[in-house]
Amino acid sequence: MIMEQEQAVICITHLPIVPHRRDDGHKGDYGHALVVAGQVGMSGAACLAGKAALRGGAGLVTVATPISIQPTIAAYEPSYLTLGLPETHGAIGFGALEAIHRALHVATAVAIGPGLGTAEPARQIVRALYRSLPIPMIIDADGLNVLAASGDDLSRDSGAGARIMTPHPGEFARLTGETTATIQAAREKFANEFARRHGLTVVLKGKETVVTDGYRMAINTTGNSGMATGGTGDVLTGLLTALVAQKLPPFEAAQLAVWLHGRAGDIAAEKHSQPGLIASDLLDYLGSAWLEIG
Ligand code: APR
Ligand code: MG
Repeated sequence: MIMEQEQAVICITHLPIVPHRRDDGHKGDYGHALVVAGQVGMSGAACLAGKAALRGGAGLVTVATPISIQPTIAAYEPSYLTLGLPETHGAIGFGALEAIHRALHVATAVAIGPGLGTAEPARQIVRALYRSLPIPMIIDADGLNVLAASGDDLSRDSGAGARIMTPHPGEFARLTGETTATIQAAREKFANEFARRHGLTVVLKGKETVVTDGYRMAINTTGNSGMATGGTGDVLTGLLTALVAQKLPPFEAAQLAVWLHGRAGDIAAEKHSQPGLIASDLLDYLGSAWLEIG
């Protein structure tokens, strides 16, 4: 334990190697991202995350969402699959866990949380998947709020896959029990301690997003204040899920995702201005960001 605390944190400044695409690659080579997101009034979160997973290069993407908004989400983008989940009052309901489990045999990474809501079914589903899902899982937004409110110790079963959390400072404050101001005054320290204690990767968002697995840390250099607009976090979640679905390790995937996401935001701001930037613009410029490093 003392050894662990004394182990230094290594700061990473170079970008990871981009996932390789073979000349004869087919969609089965590039993973299947399952995005569990959305409720009535927040269908956009599921759309943005799903389309971002496509722009992240996943071979297949499925957006699992309450059945009443499934047609809306399907109509936004023809390139992903959709799965309608049982619902209660417009949000995922009891029974959704079984439906998600049936879809899991094809998935190589799962995202949960954007626009999901925090009612009891969502609480139970997030907590169950967090604890035992054997493949990597990205937890964002209401997925994080549910875990923060649960009081659970954030431990997982022995066969559970990697976990990546993508909180903004407010969500991270709820997770840690600190105030947002306290978190913002020492972002690197809190992110690193939390990641090390719970054995996961943390992406603490905002200006100079911190990526850490508790032992390595990277501070992102891309992005701008135009990205402080609803839905940009959902784009990051989908993008990151696609990279993990392609088997990039969690720390490397998170580092690459935040760089690409911020770079797409910088290109979008050049075209549309910072005030004029909206979240779906990031989807349009992710390809340009990829070209700069591919
Ligand atoms: N500089 C650089 N990047 C920024 C800046 C900035 N000044 N401001 C915001 N960003 C980036 C963040 O790093 C992050 O990647 O934009 C993204 C914003 O993500 P979120 O804070 O999660 O915002 P949002 O997309 O609106 O979240 C939607 O999450 O907080 C919940 O309840 C909310 O369900 C909603 C969902
Ligand atoms: Mg968010």
